[in-house]
Amino acid sequence: QTHRIFDQLQRPLRDLRMSVTDQCNFRCRYCMPEEIFGPGYQFLTKEKLLSFEELTRLARIFVSLGVEKLRITGGEPLMRPNLPSLIRMLREIEGVRDIAVTTNGSLLAKHAGALKDAGLTRVTVSLDSLNDERFGRMNGRGYKVSQIIEGIDAAAAAGLLVKVNMVVQKGANDQDVLPMATYFREKGHILRFIEYMDVGNSNGWKLDQVMPSRQIIERIHREMPLEPIEPNHYGEVAARYRYVGTTNEIGLISSVTQAFCSTCTRARLSAEGQLYTCLFASAGADLRKPLREEWDDAEIRTYITDYWNRRQDRYSEERLSHTPGLNKKKVEMSHIGG
Ligand code: GTP
Ligand code: 5AD
Ligand code: SF4
Ligand code: SF4
Repeated sequence: QTHRIFDQLQRPLRDLRMSVTDQCNFRCRYCMPEEIFGPGYQFLTKEKLLSFEELTRLARIFVSLGVEKLRITGGEPLMRPNLPSLIRMLREIEGVRDIAVTTNGSLLAKHAGALKDAGLTRVTVSLDSLNDERFGRMNGRGYKVSQIIEGIDAAAAAGLLVKVNMVVQKGANDQDVLPMATYFREKGHILRFIEYMDVGNSNGWKLDQVMPSRQIIERIHREMPLEPIEPNHYGEVAARYRYVGTTNEIGLISSVTQAFCSTCTRARLSAEGQLYTCLFASAGADLRKPLREEWDDAEIRTYITDYWNRRQDRYSEERLSHTPGLNKKKVEMSHIGG
């Protein structure tokens, strides 16, 4: 049976975001800049990664504590061999309402069919521009837009529901807002605009590089009229807007200008089994040791419960009041997948 748990701010635990690898074939400047994640960078060794059995066992325990939604992240999750087997194992857990994968899309054309066959129903693909030069610069490795579009098309053709995430960074890709909106409106995929955030300690974030969601809405609304629509569920991260007279929609994830910590129900698990209760946490709780020291389920449950019960994180709300003075150590995005 399910035993719901709450933190210090009365927020329930509802979502678990599981990173399956810290590696990525991209070097997005806002996430894994090449200077830091270069050839000498030490990624996690295989023994350190949680196995699919360990991930599934933890997921089952989290579900018994109220988690309904699982998201597989990275790094780039499709770089983890046999990812479809993990999906198949997670599908078996009773009480899981939703499983999604967040991917950069570059390997999606190859894997979409197998993911669908394994029981996955949807994917979220990150894409920041439709212009090869800007996209190549942003992904840090010169990957071309067409490769991601092929991935998106393959996923849709396989019957997966596709959402697209675009991080908007002023001076890097703000001119792509309208072309992206137009393109994905035609295609019928939900596009979500994400405000560029100060995740980790390596992206050199500055407040003036953030394009506020308000401006994005205005820019699109002028060309293609929008109207706000109700959230799908409590605590939904994206604010939804529909193109007037259609059923097509966009989302705005305003983590900088309109923080949503008060309804944050998300826990994050790194590929090595560290549990983080905030995207901006400086430390996590190690779950790998308990797994490998053969604690039983009840002991691990208690450990997670205590950790969640103590949670007070509300970084994005705090940032609103101290910007830009928050200079703390933070977990890297590539460890917990956003
Ligand atoms: P759906 O289940 O499709 O609604 O997706 P989601 O709302 O879980 O969004 P997704 O996982 O695609 O997250 C999109 C982006 O929003 C992430 O990559 C982050 O950049 C940002 N984001 C998601 N959750 C949080 C959060 O808890 N805090 C902050 N600050 N940003 C978040
Ligand atoms: N700010 C906002 N979003 C980010 N992402 C990665 N780094 C950042 C950042 N600094 C997004 C990616 C992807 C998801 C995993 O997180 O673009 O959509
Ligand atoms: Fe890789 Fe995603 Fe980070 Fe880009 S944002 S480097 S695709 S993990
Ligand atoms: Fe949740 Fe932390 Fe993001 Fe706030 S900043 S919404 S607490 S993950």
